[in-house]
Amino acid sequence: MILVTGANGQLGRCFRQLAENYPQWTFLAEGSDTLNISDNAAVEAYFSTHKPRWVVNCAAYTAVDKAESEPEKAELINVTSVEHLARACAVHGAGLIHFSTDYVYNGNQGTAFRETDPVAPAGVYARTKLAGEKAALQILPGAMIIRTSWVYAREGHNFVNTMLRLGREHGRVRVVSDQIGTPTCAPDLAAAVLEIISQVENGRKKPEELAGTWNYSNEGVASWYDFAHAIFETAGIQAVTEPIESSEYPTPAARPPFSVLNKSRIREQFGLHIPHWRDSLKACFLPESHI
Ligand SMILES: NC(=O)c1ccc[n+]([C@@H]2O[C@H](COP(=O)([O-])OP(=O)(O)OC[C@H]3O[C@@H](n4cnc5c(N)ncnc54)[C@H](OP(=O)(O)O)[C@@H]3O)[C@@H](O)[C@H]2O)c1
Repeated sequence: MILVTGANGQLGRCFRQLAENYPQWTFLAEGSDTLNISDNAAVEAYFSTHKPRWVVNCAAYTAVDKAESEPEKAELINVTSVEHLARACAVHGAGLIHFSTDYVYNGNQGTAFRETDPVAPAGVYARTKLAGEKAALQILPGAMIIRTSWVYAREGHNFVNTMLRLGREHGRVRVVSDQIGTPTCAPDLAAAVLEIISQVENGRKKPEELAGTWNYSNEGVASWYDFAHAIFETAGIQAVTEPIESSEYPTPAARPPFSVLNKSRIREQFGLHIPHWRDSLKACFLPESHI
């Protein structure tokens, strides 16, 4: 039995959609309305009743800029609530897969970040996500923490949908070209996680081999400008993309100038094929796509 928390978010919805490929497993998909993970008593009661074997925590406070003015709320969801889940997993012997962000890295490196590279989160969101990672691993050393970046899916509040709207409405979009990272197509990440779980369930991997911190994004490198340009090209929108510097688009929370993730650890450990971000972006626009 796999519990997906935050199941109405963009990543959570992908697990719900992919569940049909795994008829051998029961999925429990809970949004914040049916399982509020900041309510410890509710989490304990839920685990006592349902006894999930796996927990995939897609719940998070993800409003990067708003977090600067709501630090307590970000801390409650990204740290305290993760502690609730980790404790319940420890008590009931469940595996925990939890997500974190590229924004934890120091952002000033010229080569892709490995999991062991220094962290230096710049804003409230990134700091709470790092604290959440640490809390999960302290309570449950076997937890799997996956740091990911620039997540999008067909539905949800994300860069792709914002660009589609702005491109259609205005025909010209100014986008920062000096922040470099890699987009992550949420269904690719969800599929990778389910493959990892299946490797444990099939006995090909031991649960303890999931422990610790892992990077996952699509392959390739992009600036937000490159990404916006590719979105318009792929969607067939005739919009002009104008590159600007971050200083021309100030935000309450600072973003790392460079946050490309080195995925060799997860790719080699689980034999994953990770698609290039341009291929996944094209797949996102296919009519039959689940994205
Ligand atoms: N989006 C990105 O670009 C990005 C980049 C790097 C890492 N990540 C990480 O990837 C993970 C998934 O992100 P996402 O993009 O799918 O986020 P998302 O679309 O914002 O979804 C987050 C979900 O968490 C739920 N939630 C919030 N508080 C909750 C609570 N107390 N109890 C239960 N559910 C709660 C929200 O439900 P309500 O709407 O009902 O509150 C929402 O559905 C997160 O850990 C995030 O930090 C995301």
